[in-house]
Amino acid sequence: MTRLLVISAATRPTSSGRPVAEWVVGQARDHGAFEVAPVDLAELALPFLDEPEYASTGNYAHQHTRDWSALVDSADAVVFVLPMYNGGFTAPFKNAVDFLYREWQGKPVGLVSYSAGGTGGAPAARMLLPVLTQLGMLPAERSVAIAGINGLVGDGGFNAPEGLAAELAGVLDDVAALVKEPVAA
Ligand SMILES: Cc1cc2nc3c(=O)[nH]c(=O)nc-3n(C[C@H](O)[C@H](O)[C@H](O)COP(=O)(O)O)c2cc1C
Repeated sequence: MTRLLVISAATRPTSSGRPVAEWVVGQARDHGAFEVAPVDLAELALPFLDEPEYASTGNYAHQHTRDWSALVDSADAVVFVLPMYNGGFTAPFKNAVDFLYREWQGKPVGLVSYSAGGTGGAPAARMLLPVLTQLGMLPAERSVAIAGINGLVGDGGFNAPEGLAAELAGVLDDVAALVKEPVAA
C-alpha cells in the first residue's frame, strides 16, 4: 500500500495547525489508498541546517539528519499541512525541507495550507510550488486552503467547514494518481 507522510509543518507550541493535521491524517486513512504516518515538525525539532556537506551528496554528519532522511525515504508520497506567516511559508518548514534533497525527488505531494485571514494560506502554498518543483517533487493539481483557522480550532479539535472533506479527498485522489502514474515536474 502507498505510504503517505502527513507532515505538520507548524512548530509553535500553541499551533492551530496540529488539530488540522490530525484531521488530515484521519481523512487520509478513510480515503483508503494510503497507509498513513503522521509527522510533527515540532517533535522532530531539527536545528537550523547544520550539515557540512550539501544535501545532494547524501553525506550526513548528524543523526537528526539521518533520521529525517530515513523517514522521508520511507514514504511514497507526502502531504504538507502548512501555516502562512507574513504572506509566505514558514522558516522552520523551509529549513526542514532544505535538510534533504534526493529523498524528495519524484515524490507526489499534496498541500493543505491555513491562515488566520481569508486567503487560507494559499499564497504560502503558491510560494512553495517552485521550491517543490526545484526538488523534483510532483505537486498535486488541487490543493486545500483553510481560511479563518482560529475560529475553526478549539477544545474539540478542528471543526472542518462543510465541503472541506471533499476538497481534501480531491487532493488525495491527485496524490494517489501521481503515485501510480508520475508526471515529470
Ligand atoms: C509570525 C506570524 C505571521 C503571520 N502572518 C499572517 C499573515 O500574513 N496572514 C494571515 O492570514 N495570518 C497570519 N498569521 C496568523 C497565522 O496564519 C495563524 O496564527 C495560524 O494559526 C498560524 O499557524 P500555527 O498556529 O500552526 O503557527 C501569522 C502568524 C504568525 C505567528
